[in-house]
Parts: sequence; structure tokens; C-alpha cells
Amino acid sequence: MKHIFDGLERRRASARLGGGQKRIEAQHARGKLTARERIELLLDHGSFEEFDMVVTGWGTVNGRAVFVFAKDFTVFGGSLSETHAQKITKLQDMALKNRAPIIGLFDAGGARIQEGVAALGGYGEVFQRNVMASGVIPQISVIMGPCAGGDVYSPAMTDFIFMVRDTSYMFVTGPDVVKTVTNETVTAEELGGASVHTTKSSIADRAYDNDVETLLQMRRLIDFLPSSNQDEPPEWPAFDEVDRLDESLDTIVPDNPNKPYDIKELIHKIVDEADFFEIQDAHARNIVIGFGRIEGRTVGFVANQPLVLAGVLDIDASKKAARFVRFCDCFNIPIVTFVDVPQAWREAAVRIRRSDGAESDGHHAKGVRRRL
Ligand code: HXC
Repeated sequence: MKHIFDGLERRRASARLGGGQKRIEAQHARGKLTARERIELLLDHGSFEEFDMVVTGWGTVNGRAVFVFAKDFTVFGGSLSETHAQKITKLQDMALKNRAPIIGLFDAGGARIQEGVAALGGYGEVFQRNVMASGVIPQISVIMGPCAGGDVYSPAMTDFIFMVRDTSYMFVTGPDVVKTVTNETVTAEELGGASVHTTKSSIADRAYDNDVETLLQMRRLIDFLPSSNQDEPPEWPAFDEVDRLDESLDTIVPDNPNKPYDIKELIHKIVDEADFFEIQDAHARNIVIGFGRIEGRTVGFVANQPLVLAGVLDIDASKKAARFVRFCDCFNIPIVTFVDVPQAWREAAVRIRRSDGAESDGHHAKGVRRRL
């Protein structure tokens, strides 16, 4: 019997090494951690219960259950095989059944080319569960390496996407394949780096400098979120006095409506312990969104930012705020809105005056003013 257990342990030890020592070293040389090292940092120490000897399982973040999978780039570039898909979907089913958040750590090249349609079918199953879980449990994707194909499409369907600067990318396919197919030379950063996705496309919600910082920030985010749409947002001990007065709030907002000020300064002064988790800080900066706590309970903030474009609502700002409000609505998170758009009706009125002529502008301008 002993030799059977010894054999099993040998196999487990070799499975724990993923693609082998050499590939682990290559991963470290790129400034990236391995799948298991990442999980170790994300979860409470010693809480990870691994399923099926691949890097999927559950553990806790500050005592609350989360389900987690980490793609292992050292094994076929983390690409998704039929079996790999079965393991992910099993975890998705368990997270949904247990009504607990699911976090995916992505470092993977999409469908495993060698498996063809079987791998593509696997993605169909993963995507289906992304849809079923939407609005029921929080789904968080962390992009921690070069990700292509299905390893971008599935995250795109989840609630939040975070990236690591300079080591993570999201694209349909990598620069080498682009070069072969279209003869176009493009860098990974231009094709889908954090600089593109956090500012222009707004696919990613935030980027951090390295794996460690990113994972620690994910622990912070989880603390703000309810486990499911049937749960209340978590309540943490608050050390801020409920009746704390902040005199500076009287002066932050200037009397002169043409004078800009930083709405984030105001939010930081209002939330418990100045702890504000901003979402999409680099995109549509004329609106600010994010989570904070009041009396220990999570609140979503939506605020015009007078410092950028006078805080006007344009298409990007509206989409950014609307998506966030939808998330808060799904998960019973109350919303505090700070409205300050003195420029908006004036600019709208000027535009109407320019297009309609002097006769009608008074009437339209009043209409605009009333609506705002
Ligand atoms: C099999 C893959 C793979 C894949 C990477 N590898 N992607 N193996 N299937 N999809 C392997 C490589 O062959 C290599 O193995 C190892 O992983 C590391 O990859 P490198 O290319 O050396 O690394 P890097 O230069 O960092 O580039 C990573 C990459 C690139 C950007 C992900 O490998 C790439 O562009 N791969 C192709 C991605 C792609 O087209 N995926 C789309 C799949 S279709 P060796 O042994 O040589 O070290 C899809 C559609 C889903 O996902 C839709 C479902 C409905």
C-alpha cells in the first residue's frame, strides 16, 4: 500500500511543478509569479483547498469564502484544453451553487490549438456559466500575463477586470500571429497592454505595478463586495466616529462655480478611514466611481469630477457610471451621488443657441436648465 501512496505523492509533486522548473524560472525572469504562488498571496494563509490537482479550488479572503482558478502559463502557455475547461466549469458551478465570488487569474493563450474544436466547445461551456453567474455572484478577472482568444472573451463578460502593468496583455491573438497573418508589426503593449485597456477601450478597470500589489488590491476589493445578490454587503468594524465633523468640507467646494476642485478629496473625507477603492481611475476621468464605506457598510460613489472637463457627462462618462450603477443595483449596494456639473447646461445652451439661432435659444436654454 505504501508504494501506492509514495507513487501518488511523486505524481502530485510533479504536477505541482506545472510545466517544470525551467519554465517556472522563465516565469520569474519575466517578473511574474506562478499560478500557485499567486493563489498563496490572494487567499488567507493555509486556506486554499485545491481540487483535482490543477490550480482550481476555494479558500478565504479575510475569512469569507471565494472560489479561485489560476491559469498556469508554464503548461502549454496556460491554453485551454477540453479537460481544463471541465475543471473551470466545475469551479464555476460550485461558486454559483455556494453563492460565493469567483476570481480568475489569467495568464493564458486561449484555446489549445492542438485540440481544435474540442477546446472551442469548452469555451462555450465557460461562457455560458459566465452569463448564468452574471448579477448573481461577483466575477472578477485578473489579467497577469499575455492573454489571447477565449482567455480575453471570458474575462470581458465578468464584472471587473484588473491588469498588471508591462507584463499583462489582452488581445484576440499575439503580435507574432498578427505579423504572420497581416504582416503588420505591432508591440504587445500597443495591441492590448494595460495602457490601452485602462484608458481607451475601458475593458480593464484598473492596472497595478506588479503581481503582488495586484493580488493585495484584489483582497481589498473582495472586502467591499457582498458574496452574492442574496447577501448584504459585508459590514466591517468602523473606527470613524459617526458624528465626525470635517470643517474643510465647508471650503472644498468653491463659491465660484467656474473654479475647479478635486471631488476625490471630498470623497476621501467622507468615507470611513479615507478608504476609497476607485474603479476605472484612468478612463473618462470626468466622472469618479468606486467603493467606500459609511459606518462600516459598503457604498458605491458616483461623482462628477469638476477637475476634468468641468465634470460634464459625455458618452464615456455615462457608460462608465451606468455600468457601475448596474453592478451596485444587482448586488444591493447603496449609491451616493455627488452632482456638480455647472458647465453642462451652459454648454448645452450655447450649442443650442449656435444651431437654432437667437429666436429659439431662450426657450431651449430654459428647457435644458430645468432638466438639469
Ligand atoms: C497551444 C500555446 C497557445 C495556444 C501559447 N502556447 N498559446 N499552445 N495553444 N493557444 C504555447 C506556445 O506554443 C509556447 O510553447 C508556450 O505556450 C509559451 O508561448 P510563447 O509564444 O513562447 O510566449 P509569448 O511570446 O509570451 O506569447 C504568448 C502568446 C502567444 C501571446 C499567448 O503564444 C500567442 O499569440 N499564442 C496564440 C494565441 C491565440 O491565437 N489564441 C487564440 C486561440 S482561439 P513552447 O513549448 O514553444 O514553449 C480562441 C477562441 C475562443 O481562444 C473562442 C471560443 C468560442
